[in-house]
Amino acid sequence: MSAEPQKTFYLETFGCQMNVHDSEKVIGTLISQGYRQVSTVEDAGLILYNTCSIRDKAEQKVFHRLADYKKLHAQGKKFGVLGCVAQQEGEKIFERAPYVSMVCGSASYRNLPQMLIQVEAGKQRVTGLDDRETDECFETEFTARTNPHRGYITIIEGCDKFCAYCVVPFTRGKERSRTSDSVLAEARQMANLGYSEIQLLGQNVNSYKDSSGKRSFAELLAAVSETPGIKRVRFTTSHPRDFGRDIVQAIESAPTLCNHVHLPVQSGSTRILDAMQRLYNRDQYLERISWMKAAKREISITTDVIVGFPGETEADFDETLSLLDEVGYDSIFAFKYSPRPNTPAVHLADPISDQEKSRRLAVLQDKQKQIQTHLNHRHLGQTLEVMVEGKNETRKQWIGRTSQNKVLNFTTNSDPAVGSYVQVKATIIFPNSLAGEMVV
Ligand code: 5AD
Ligand code: SF4
Repeated sequence: MSAEPQKTFYLETFGCQMNVHDSEKVIGTLISQGYRQVSTVEDAGLILYNTCSIRDKAEQKVFHRLADYKKLHAQGKKFGVLGCVAQQEGEKIFERAPYVSMVCGSASYRNLPQMLIQVEAGKQRVTGLDDRETDECFETEFTARTNPHRGYITIIEGCDKFCAYCVVPFTRGKERSRTSDSVLAEARQMANLGYSEIQLLGQNVNSYKDSSGKRSFAELLAAVSETPGIKRVRFTTSHPRDFGRDIVQAIESAPTLCNHVHLPVQSGSTRILDAMQRLYNRDQYLERISWMKAAKREISITTDVIVGFPGETEADFDETLSLLDEVGYDSIFAFKYSPRPNTPAVHLADPISDQEKSRRLAVLQDKQKQIQTHLNHRHLGQTLEVMVEGKNETRKQWIGRTSQNKVLNFTTNSDPAVGSYVQVKATIIFPNSLAGEMVV
């Protein structure tokens, strides 16, 4: 009796770390259902896209990709769209790309095994779109993590903040947290598998609410950082409104908690922060920064900025520029405002031209580059611990990452293992990275 040919899938991921980690869980789920992952669409029976809709270009990419592969449908291949574009566009995807047989938002991933059975049975238009009000998280024992040393753990899903520009509350649904015991069990399991770095994930990790009521977010951080075998713990993303002093205290007292905080500001102008419905003003944001600056060990701070939000004047933009000087970020992610469906801001008049948004973006990035070059000088001559991430063979340089989340490339005559921790003396400074020599 010949065995049935194995079911195969190809999965491509767009977007943020949440999506990357969701994909690891989706892949684990598919493998547990008897599928094998392949690396080309040609080899796959099922082609999946885990999509992002945070800005319009990301969304267009998905439709282009689907159009590119349309002809493969004739070969009997099946298509599924997952993630934020799936949730946002819903059944409209079937109209635009009729060869897609499954559309599923992230709040419905728990139901993927049943949905896959329907797709395999030849059912058309299988959907997972109705779970945005769920209290349940996507917890699975099957997670196919791609990196064997550093891995993500989701602690909170969804978002209840409804910032005026943001699509996430509509695509990822209501905020819901896992119990701290379940997060800690996953951390211990990862340590037993040899992981040494854990990154706790959520759209807004600071509003984490242990559903068992045992631990606050700062207490969860402290508990994860005590997991035997874990050397580094990171967390992202923080919302300034919910960012408490106890988080800074946790970083001060736990050496394994990385000394880096990503605290998206979005704008330096209180007027624009108000229009964005961010629930804090410039002074309150700067107060949180002052807590970090007063910490017993140096905390690296990074942020996200949106330029050209409706109504942003030249004076508002100047306030964002001056905020960069005042805070001294180690790096920023800056974006041109992009109107998103369903969001409150989509109804605002958006008179700032794309050209003007591009100009502001360039001015902002130029300023930040100068700040970074200047700030990176403080590392000259410092010996820093890095996790070895790999080797750049052309440059004959090893790639390392510091606790502050900076790339520190280095040379050495020895052969350090990827995933190990070594000491590196920083000798050269660039705006976006450091370089040095391993200290033996
Ligand atoms: N337009 C531009 N940038 C956006 N972001 C979120 N929504 C939008 C939007 N509509 C940015 C924010 C957020 C980051 C993940 O993406 O800066 O922090
Ligand atoms: Fe991630 Fe936000 Fe994009 Fe959704 S919309 S994939 S949450 S970045």
